[in-house]
Amino acid sequence: MKWFINHKIIEDQDGYIVELYLDQQLSEFAKEFLETHKKDTGSFEKYVSDYIKEKIPNVKVKTVKIMLGSLLLTSIPFSSIHAETSSIANTNQVQNQTFAPYTVQSGDTLFGISRKFDTTVDQLKSINGLTSNLIYKGQLLKIPNMQPTIYIVQKEDTLFKISKQYNVSLEQLKAVNGLTGDALYIGQTLTIPNGDITVPVSVLPNVVLNVGARGEDVKKIQKALNDLGYSLSPDGIYGSRTKAAILDFQKQHAALTNDGVYGPKTKEYLQQTLLNNKDAIISNPRDVLVLVNKNNRLPSTYIPENVVVPNVSFSFKDYNPKKLMRQDGASALEEMFEQTKQENITLYAVSGYRSYDRQKAIFASNVEKYGMEIANQFSAKPGESEHQTGLAMDITSATANFKLTEYFGATKEGKWVKENAHKFGFIIRYEKGKEHITRYQYEPWHLRYIGKDAAKEITNQNITLEEYLGKK
Ligand code: DAL
Ligand code: ZN
Repeated sequence: MKWFINHKIIEDQDGYIVELYLDQQLSEFAKEFLETHKKDTGSFEKYVSDYIKEKIPNVKVKTVKIMLGSLLLTSIPFSSIHAETSSIANTNQVQNQTFAPYTVQSGDTLFGISRKFDTTVDQLKSINGLTSNLIYKGQLLKIPNMQPTIYIVQKEDTLFKISKQYNVSLEQLKAVNGLTGDALYIGQTLTIPNGDITVPVSVLPNVVLNVGARGEDVKKIQKALNDLGYSLSPDGIYGSRTKAAILDFQKQHAALTNDGVYGPKTKEYLQQTLLNNKDAIISNPRDVLVLVNKNNRLPSTYIPENVVVPNVSFSFKDYNPKKLMRQDGASALEEMFEQTKQENITLYAVSGYRSYDRQKAIFASNVEKYGMEIANQFSAKPGESEHQTGLAMDITSATANFKLTEYFGATKEGKWVKENAHKFGFIIRYEKGKEHITRYQYEPWHLRYIGKDAAKEITNQNITLEEYLGKK
């Protein structure tokens, strides 16, 4: 069978990227391709290699991208295809060229990480050049980027049916695929997002459960609580952590008895909260003006491209992914820090990019310490933090003891930032007196890059990003 109908050659720094286009006309085609590729990597790679040797023999190919229309199905380093030994020896070799960063947390094992990211210990070791299973807290690992599943619409499919099949919400399916209505056509390719699996509210069980209970009903409740921002392992065991989460939930609702027991009334409130919790998934995460807040959540798989460590002073020395910022924000931050030097002001950057998983761990730890209600006044749920965009940077000063504290706003440096940040395209995102709009406490240290025009208008009018975008 002829796999590709076309190809494109793109010049890159040290070689060429070749895009190979699968035939879009045949709806079964991509499915077959994906299955063949998964089952028999060797013969597929030989096919790609032969195709390239025949059609473009004298080009130094660095990467091969398999495309279905404008959709990138997979990206393969050509060296792995080209090696003569590739067909059998390298079947374990990682196919996807893109990786996501992951910082090892305490208690992590390679096995645990491999399960979480749907990969294998061997793959993790090979990508990261590890010779043993030993990892340490704070270590930065490369994780194969989770590729979303591609689904080709079949006869009699409906969005509802597909959403059920893959356990994703209808809203999410629509948002990810930019659909405004429910209409589908046969052969249409849909992206099925990974993660963010929500428990349908209707399935919350009508039972009474207490510590010691076990089973599927407990698991459903644990997943529902996780949807609200708790972080329980959905093991179906109603232990002390599940009880603590139920208790914390009950404390937020005066009508509920604080007994840590899941009964009809707690179920009713939990169900209602889940219904209200159907946040919109952001469809434009790359937009410099993207609105990320308690009503607009980033996809869990979103990782900004082009992140760099800005060339500014930090409050700590060693490399850490939290030094990263998106290139546009980083350049603006450098410009601002450069200006401070002329004005005898010394600022320190503290915390920029945070992955979805990092935010999840931070939020979970805050919930553990302070309970959901208090925690969410200063800490965002995963997907709801601007830090995941790479456009936010927390800053401080020596006069604020290098801390992220409200006092920073009263220091000479904090005042300078309030007066001047907009000139460089930044706003203080969580302002004093605007808590009812931003729904976070005052954070004079949290800067968000949005570009000079918008920053100027927001600052001059003393409004929030929500108001500027008309989404109060
Ligand atoms: N402190 C802000 C709200 C965050 O966690 O992103
Ligand atoms: Zn912040």
